[in-house]
Amino acid sequence: MLPEIIKATAINSNNHNIYLISGIADLPNDIFTDPETEYITRRLAGKNQNTVILNKLGHLTVVCRLSSNEETTRDKEFEKFRKTGESLLSIFNDHKTELVCIVDSGHLPDETLAFTEGMVLGNYQFLKYRNDRAEKESSLKTIEIVSSDLIEKEIAELNILCKAVYTCRSLINEPLSNLNAEKLAQDFEVMAHEAGIKIEVLNKQKIEAMKMGGLLAVNLGSIDPPTFSIMEYKPENAVNSKPIVFVGKGVVYDTGGLSLKPTSSMDTMKCDMSGAAAVASALYAIALAKLPVYVVALVPATDNRPDGNAYVPGDIITMMDGTTVEVLNTDAEGRLILADALTYAKKYDPLLVIDLATLTGAAEAALGRIGIAGMQYKAEKYFPLLVNSSFSVCERIAEFPFWDDYEELLKSEIADLKNIGGKYAGAITAGKFLQHFTEYPWIHLDIAGPAFIDKHDSYRTIGGTGVGVRLLFDFVKGFGS
Ligand code: BES
Ligand code: MN
Ligand code: ZN
Repeated sequence: MLPEIIKATAINSNNHNIYLISGIADLPNDIFTDPETEYITRRLAGKNQNTVILNKLGHLTVVCRLSSNEETTRDKEFEKFRKTGESLLSIFNDHKTELVCIVDSGHLPDETLAFTEGMVLGNYQFLKYRNDRAEKESSLKTIEIVSSDLIEKEIAELNILCKAVYTCRSLINEPLSNLNAEKLAQDFEVMAHEAGIKIEVLNKQKIEAMKMGGLLAVNLGSIDPPTFSIMEYKPENAVNSKPIVFVGKGVVYDTGGLSLKPTSSMDTMKCDMSGAAAVASALYAIALAKLPVYVVALVPATDNRPDGNAYVPGDIITMMDGTTVEVLNTDAEGRLILADALTYAKKYDPLLVIDLATLTGAAEAALGRIGIAGMQYKAEKYFPLLVNSSFSVCERIAEFPFWDDYEELLKSEIADLKNIGGKYAGAITAGKFLQHFTEYPWIHLDIAGPAFIDKHDSYRTIGGTGVGVRLLFDFVKGFGS
């Protein structure tokens, strides 16, 4: 359940309250008795002790000291605040609390927001398919914030962003049985209409007319048609005349095709549309928050399956831009559908294109669940800004080398390119394959590691994490200001 964050004006001691302080002096003295203050002081003197929980006449009262100054950077500190927020959730949910009030006693508006963000994001659950959902559902519905420094707009933005992350996670968690390419596009339509985004969904016939040979080849083994979703958000007050274009990998399920994946690697492959979910959800948040930036999102979508008509290793396919590709592994399908989307992006003469894709096991092997593999071409100007955002929101990007030499590995004897680069540097050769279809400033983010997790990690809940949504939102927000 997505808790709503509301600004409140006064402390109500009949609520369950969390007091965020930077030091004991911040404790409101009309709320706490002297013995209570003494007790809290004693507890907080303990090493590593920043939280004290009291039960004041049946009302849970938490005092939490946020600024510890132990962390080496602001970014690390904020991540700690998010995690602290999440860590207190269970106290309230176990208590069946519906409303919690966070009191910013220490004039810590940004810290309070980070704490609240962790609490809200950690409250996500995917219970749709459980019959015991009513009893499992977390109780928390409303988070009030009392703060003299926080403005309504910041609270509204946090509500929007959290809703977008929830939306993204649920799209990823939805299994193929209920989310094929057409259903994904329909869900995007609902999101677009709500947020005032223009959307067009190309059906198979139109995709054929556009000669999107990569998307069509991957779709050959499927019983469901592909889709290509085009979402445009162009506010009148946009600061940019050429758009920022997001591209998201929308493989709604990746069996590997005829180059079939081993059973265990297939288990989580409903997550192979995480890039698509992230770009659509980020655009949804950007439009709902009315950020003054012209942004487009493109999503090629299909499943990758080994039906009778499936493309086979050895096939040569012709991409939308005319490039011929020798397919040597049908499991390297993401790059094929993305290549056509990157070609399509040229028509916008984009300022910058950013693609998000669960593209390679190699990126996951290199960085684990922690990091995003980033590569860039002609985007020296924007890449550091995106990396800054990635640290602020703790969806960190590690830049991979992108030397020309890696292109050699994709050379084919009988076509313009091969779709695989061999045993080594798999994340980079996949990126190099994509680069062939770009001619504009472009950033490639391989999110195969952090997109999906098999056990919860603080406010990153089990399953789809929604990685990329907060990153792109923060980047675009910085762009518009
Ligand atoms: N969807 C996978 C990559 C992936 C792996 C995503 C693990 C999330 C977690 C992608 O389509 C794939 O199969 N890539 C192959 C490429 C190879 C055949 C060159 C891979 O990484 O093994
Ligand atoms: Mn694959
Ligand atoms: Zn894939």
